[in-house]
Amino acid sequence: MNKTIAVTGAAGYIGSILVGRLLDAGYRVKALDRFYFGSDTLGRYANHPGLELKTIDIRDVTPRDLEGCWGVIDLAALSNDPSAELDPALTWEINEKGRIDLARCARSAGVERYVFSGSCSVYGAGGRAELSEDCALRPLTAYARAAANAEEAIRGMNRPGFATVALRNATVFGLSPRMRFDLVVNVMTLSAFENGRIVVTGGGKQRRPLVHVQDAARAFICALEGCDRGIGGDVFNIGLSNFRMVELSEVVREAIPTPVQVQFAPGGSDKRDYSVKFDKARDVLGFSAAVGVPEGVAEIHHALLANQVERGLVTKTVAWYSHIIQMQRMWSFGLVARSLAPTPAEPEPGLAARQVAISAAVARERPRAGAIGTLAALIGIVFGVEADYSDEYLGLAERIPRLAGAFEATLAGVI
Ligand SMILES: NC(=O)c1ccc[n+]([C@@H]2O[C@H](COP(=O)([O-])OP(=O)(O)OC[C@H]3O[C@@H](n4cnc5c(N)ncnc54)[C@H](O)[C@@H]3O)[C@@H](O)[C@H]2O)c1
Repeated sequence: MNKTIAVTGAAGYIGSILVGRLLDAGYRVKALDRFYFGSDTLGRYANHPGLELKTIDIRDVTPRDLEGCWGVIDLAALSNDPSAELDPALTWEINEKGRIDLARCARSAGVERYVFSGSCSVYGAGGRAELSEDCALRPLTAYARAAANAEEAIRGMNRPGFATVALRNATVFGLSPRMRFDLVVNVMTLSAFENGRIVVTGGGKQRRPLVHVQDAARAFICALEGCDRGIGGDVFNIGLSNFRMVELSEVVREAIPTPVQVQFAPGGSDKRDYSVKFDKARDVLGFSAAVGVPEGVAEIHHALLANQVERGLVTKTVAWYSHIIQMQRMWSFGLVARSLAPTPAEPEPGLAARQVAISAAVARERPRAGAIGTLAALIGIVFGVEADYSDEYLGLAERIPRLAGAFEATLAGVI
């Protein structure tokens, strides 16, 4: 099999598992990603002859980027509610308009099959019943609204020769090379590991469907390959089963071999509460989730014990995007300050990179100390202060340019 599949968001939590599965199944993969979380997550396949990496923002993709691709699996997005709330206009630009434009590019490029990664979040506060795909959507957030709108538009593009299918994924859990410790099972497991306790907020009665990351990746391949069975234009809930948060905390607690306390705390801004049915995926797509929550918890716990899993800032999606935005602000401020400085330092290779590293070091110590960070940046530029710069921060400087474009306007106002 030599068909090429373009996967957007390929280096992400789901993508970095999906790419491996596609390569193992004999597909060639074109991985399109802005690599906000790095590309090391695909490192296992770095020398695979079937994998091509391309650093690109989905908003810049043209039909030429998708020429020769038989299928597209569209995963790239700001991938959760809090990240999407950082800038709802930017969320619309990437998660809705960007994804619809991408599907149009795919159609123009002659792509035959298109699978859209949507979310069960579109059900919002879903009432008591288990929801099937034809139930009304009640998206509560910018993230969920963008997912609902993009899904509808892309399903509507289904035509003979261009089959589009949408998957509404449950909340995913389990181990991935791009680890996410902002997903409920993963967070509970990390908290149990680090603190010996799981904190349940919001009362614990909220229901949520879940699916393991390996199952989620498998579902994309089922959908891609199932298009010839007349499912074009259709949508499927993808998940294992539904849990109340309080039940889930017990399942996680029991899956961990050391004593863990479950505590209840007030608060919790997440208002999602719904349970969904998965029969349609089973009956029509032939997909059933197989990996249970205890197995997912055990694999994460094992990796934590063996110190084989990243658990820093980069694994908390909204914190990482906020960090990138802060870096972007400092970077822009530094460039402007350099042009305004009365005796600008001689342009010196690497100075700007060192300045980013200085700002980053300050931001790392005092995440909200933007003023101190920018002052440090200014000192770095004017006096050429040497910094202890790490690959992590220099790599970050290369990844930031597009995400925070919307914030530059704000910054310009400040200056
Ligand atoms: N993980 C879940 O629980 C879950 C549940 C439901 C739906 N989804 C959806 O599945 C998809 C993948 O989720 P994930 O958990 O792998 O997220 P992720 O954040 O780990 O990965 C998203 C990837 O998209 C890339 N990206 C973001 N904006 C981009 C842009 N403008 N251009 C190019 N690349 C960009 C990022 O660099 C990242 O590699 C998303 O669409 C998400 O909304 C995820």
